[in-house]
Amino acid sequence: MANLFRFGISLPKNLLDKFDRLISEKNYTNRSEAFRDLIREDLVKAEWKKNREVVGAITLIYDHHKRELINKLMDIQHDFGGVIISSQHIHLDHNNCLEIIAVKGPSKEAQKLADSLKSVKGVKHATLSLSTTGKDI
Ligand code: NI
Repeated sequence: MANLFRFGISLPKNLLDKFDRLISEKNYTNRSEAFRDLIREDLVKAEWKKNREVVGAITLIYDHHKRELINKLMDIQHDFGGVIISSQHIHLDHNNCLEIIAVKGPSKEAQKLADSLKSVKGVKHATLSLSTTGKDI
């Protein structure tokens, strides 16, 4: 790893104890990597707030017997073709489908797409996972 800098951090003892317990539960082997991940998490959130180019994944669970619903989901995805870089459809069981849509582009567009898909009547569950292009962190 290039350009590593060391610096000290002052924390109340009880906060440090809680942090150590938390990172141990998450299988971190040292505090430095846990701090780096916390900082990256905030940087990614800031990218999303500032409408920067971001990467994300939308997941949808829906009943494939509802043909109107499927048409609506398709129409929306065609309207947002500029930010969709890939999608995968998985037939979960006789009734339910899982769709995973990878997005890359301005965060507001990605959020708008996720909100549009989520609000379609009949979608049982939808999530948007916020991530980054990795260029600036
Ligand atoms: Ni299916």
